[in-house]
Amino acid sequence: RRAPLLAPSLLAADMANLQAETERLAASAADWLHFDVMDGRFVPNISFGLPVLQAVKRHARQPIDVHLMIEEPQHYLAAFRDAGADVITVHAEACPHLHRVVQQIKQLGCQAGVALNPHTPIQVLENLAADLDLVCIMSVNPGFGGQAFIPNTLRKVADLKALLIDCGSDALIEVDGGVSLANAGPLVEAGADVLVAGSFVFNAPEGPVATLERLRGHLA
Ligand code: DX5
Ligand code: ZN
Repeated sequence: RRAPLLAPSLLAADMANLQAETERLAASAADWLHFDVMDGRFVPNISFGLPVLQAVKRHARQPIDVHLMIEEPQHYLAAFRDAGADVITVHAEACPHLHRVVQQIKQLGCQAGVALNPHTPIQVLENLAADLDLVCIMSVNPGFGGQAFIPNTLRKVADLKALLIDCGSDALIEVDGGVSLANAGPLVEAGADVLVAGSFVFNAPEGPVATLERLRGHLA
């Protein structure tokens, strides 16, 4: 099995010191920076958006993985690309014309991802899988950091892996929510390629850099 990419979620970082947080992650085991955008409509919480992404981008060394938890994301794709997004992930549940939105993301030159809420079956991607760069399996209900990992995710990731192979898709499987040392190993065994982690990484007493190093060592 391949070592997964580690994507710390800035939602759990010190919001008043995002420059310092981004700079210390620059020299860490982080492969991507995960950037959670919430609109207070698609999810019952509001986080941050374009100007914050632009500010973070100036100090970031890793690609920025933008997770749009917003309704009608099609109106904001170009703006997020311009603000510094490398990967743009939209929710299947927020897009009646998901295929079109995915093509729009790719036309902008970004990697295209689709996220699925815990209750959304992977089969909604059957006719789109070959076009995707990434599928994000939500292992919590989106909207908040620090929630408990939903155990059924392991089965869902394994099923998705089989579906992607069936469809001839080389999309990466990302898992987002409640990821920690307690489930990272089994997730990678099941087929996860990208692990997002917020509170586990930033709330650890030893800090994010040491925690990411420990996670990487654990998965080696
Ligand atoms: C949840 C966000 C996650 C969140 C993960 O709505 O999409 O990316 O930051 O945080 P933890 O790892 O604390 O569950
Ligand atoms: Zn996220």
